[in-house]
Amino acid sequence: MDLLGKIKANAQKINKRIVLPEGAEPRTLKATEIILQEKIAKVILLGDVETIKKEAEKLGVKIEGAEIIDPATSDKRDAYADIMVEIRKKKGLTKEQALDLLNDPLCYAPVMIKAGDADGEIAGAINATGDVLRPAFQFVKTMPGVSVVSGAFMMFLKDRSFGQDGILVFSDCAVMPDPDEQQLAEIAVTTAKTAKAIVGMEPRIAMLSFSTKGSAKHELVDKVVNATKIAKEMAPDLMIDGELQLDAALIPEVASLKAPGSDVAGKANILVFPGLEAGNIGYKLVQRLAGAEAIGPVLQGMAAPINDLSRGCSVSDIVNMVAIAANQAGA
Ligand code: ACO
Repeated sequence: MDLLGKIKANAQKINKRIVLPEGAEPRTLKATEIILQEKIAKVILLGDVETIKKEAEKLGVKIEGAEIIDPATSDKRDAYADIMVEIRKKKGLTKEQALDLLNDPLCYAPVMIKAGDADGEIAGAINATGDVLRPAFQFVKTMPGVSVVSGAFMMFLKDRSFGQDGILVFSDCAVMPDPDEQQLAEIAVTTAKTAKAIVGMEPRIAMLSFSTKGSAKHELVDKVVNATKIAKEMAPDLMIDGELQLDAALIPEVASLKAPGSDVAGKANILVFPGLEAGNIGYKLVQRLAGAEAIGPVLQGMAAPINDLSRGCSVSDIVNMVAIAANQAGA
């Protein structure tokens, strides 16, 4: 069975509740039919009940097994508003403001997760990344010991000699524009968790730079060296090395010249980029020029799985991300 097959099979076994705030969106409805048919997860659609049912009927998709909740009229609003006020009391959120925020499904969904009424969320087919992430950051927050959320991509390469049987995990490619050394260390450690939970990978993490083992001197290189040190302190059992250039991370012959004796260089399966510019451009280069399949961003470091879709996403992208979120919720 291929990796996605395994991810779906595990999702079927653990049967998590995934909330889809863009409930009336056509690709989301088509994905819901497949998720229900294949029993990948329990689906909760948010939005006006009649609109969702009419749209499903128009598309000819069966969504009878999905729970539909209208955030504007739900009987949980009062309890949810209390939870929100409690979480953001230092920020001065009033109950009236909380009730108003709950009208937005992108806010209702993370609060639902916080209340224990859903296990994960997928959104972003018609909303920008920031609008999906902000309420998630505010109400679900990060997992204990982690201060930063980041986004990993699973890259399925045609050349299976790289990574784990052709799979590499890239991070951060989606969230943190300019991480400092502590944040970069956290990104490395949480990416290892993602790679273990979703790919079943034994992580070998390369902390990427334009320098290998002191070949260049610059404050940007120092940042990666220090992040590597902090990550080792955070997770002493992890195989992690840096700073490494990309070729030293992936190519054994280059590794033996530039980083001899490293347990990561030449055989890395996780690439941690020094900033979002490199990470976002890097994954798209590999996707477009090397023809790799890119699955993600899988958001990591959040206390519950909330994943953002690209607005160009397909129905099968939504199905896959629901299966991945279910696996994250079960890890
Ligand atoms: N992890 C955890 N919490 C965070 C993070 C983070 N990475 N970033 C912001 N927060 C929290 C803040 O602490 C703040 O919490 P508070 O309200 O309790 O104080 C809250 O979220 C809002 O913070 P802002 O700084 O106001 O958030 P802002 O909206 O400015 O930025 C965002 C967050 C939208 C994620 C921003 O960092 C961003 O735009 N990143 C790039 C996203 C992007 O466009 N990616 C590329 C496209 S994706 C792709 O190509 C696959």
